[in-house]
Amino acid sequence: MTSGGDKDTFLAGFEASISAGTFVRLTLGKYRGAGDAEKIVLTPVAIKGAAMLKAVTSHARKDVTQNYAVEDAVTFVEKVLGADYLSATLFTTAEDVTLGYTKKKTTTLTRGKPTFSSVPVAEHNRAKQYIVDASRPYLAGLGVSDGKGAIKPSMYAKFKQICHFVEIVESLISESDVRDASALRVTDIGSGKGYLTFALYDHLAAKPGRQASVTGIEIRPELVALCNDLAVKSGFSGLTFEAVAAAQSAPRANDIMIALHACDTATDDAIYQGIKGNAALIVTAPCCQHELAPQLTRAVKPLDGLLKFGLFKQRQADLVTDAARCLLLEAQGYTVKVIEFVSTEHTAKNILIAAIRDARVDRTQAQKQYAALKAQMGFTSQHLETLLSKQP
Ligand SMILES: C[S@@+](CC[C@H](N)C(=O)[O-])C[C@H]1O[C@@H](n2cnc3c(N)ncnc32)[C@H](O)[C@@H]1O
Repeated sequence: MTSGGDKDTFLAGFEASISAGTFVRLTLGKYRGAGDAEKIVLTPVAIKGAAMLKAVTSHARKDVTQNYAVEDAVTFVEKVLGADYLSATLFTTAEDVTLGYTKKKTTTLTRGKPTFSSVPVAEHNRAKQYIVDASRPYLAGLGVSDGKGAIKPSMYAKFKQICHFVEIVESLISESDVRDASALRVTDIGSGKGYLTFALYDHLAAKPGRQASVTGIEIRPELVALCNDLAVKSGFSGLTFEAVAAAQSAPRANDIMIALHACDTATDDAIYQGIKGNAALIVTAPCCQHELAPQLTRAVKPLDGLLKFGLFKQRQADLVTDAARCLLLEAQGYTVKVIEFVSTEHTAKNILIAAIRDARVDRTQAQKQYAALKAQMGFTSQHLETLLSKQP
């Protein structure tokens, strides 16, 4: 038989087993594609009452799940079989069928006794465990999901990051004094393409009895235009974006200030504006800390060995910069938590500094600690301190 013939027979058997209700699972193996995928297992799943197929792709460090309508699952298997995957086994209650490809792409189709004697009860959709609903249209507008509400495999890590961020902010809100606020004003500095800004707005505005007004501040006008356009199309009347540099954006009264991976001292500008705007929460994930590294040459002598090597020196500068920000936040009356935001697998810039306004904080002690850190590490100028020193 030609390879097309065996493949067609296999795919027809796959489709027929689903129609006949004898389908148990289909596995794809012998991955020869460019990525780090290992195998895919397709099993029945019920989503909002509809029979679909769940495909779990095993990668070296994670599993990626994608749900397909039946016809799309068949199309998907047709596409990857013989290209990325050189082996597939269809398990039905009637028989097991294996299609294999040799290096020269000739095929063998073998049939055997069924491994399974009964069809599993379709698993229910697990997507509901995510705080962000994957079917929300703005996710398609941002390119995170396809038009059918399924997260694109290439955007799965981003989607998980978005969900994790929304969970963190929701949890911080519950610890803050705006937990029961009927209106929340949020500013997101360095909002970029708006992934997190849209998700947070959608989440905050969804709570009955709570109004949300979210402003994204972004230096790149083309991103601002895209985000404003999508906000209008999504019907998100409380979500707007402004094309302005963080340092130049007008200070505004604020409940929550966010700056995730806003570059270098834009994080300080955001923290400063949060403090000036009396934000209950200030949430930043700093990156590109360039300001302090050149100043560490004046650190106390015992640190010479630590700061001798360029890479270690930059890492110390990152830590000193962020510790300085935390202490300055405490000195302004915030309780500070430092947590890991995303897995180091995705970015090394994974530290999240969360500051919650709290009148009980020992501000004097924080000021002393900041002064000691500054003296030990030898820096004389830190952007947030400079901004705060100008505060009336
Ligand atoms: C790495 S992206 C992060 C985007 C988004 N916050 C996220 O985490 O997905 C950083 C964004 O900050 C913007 N940015 C950098 N410096 C800025 C500044 N001084 N003022 C406003 N935006 C800035 C950049 O243009 C970029 O879009």
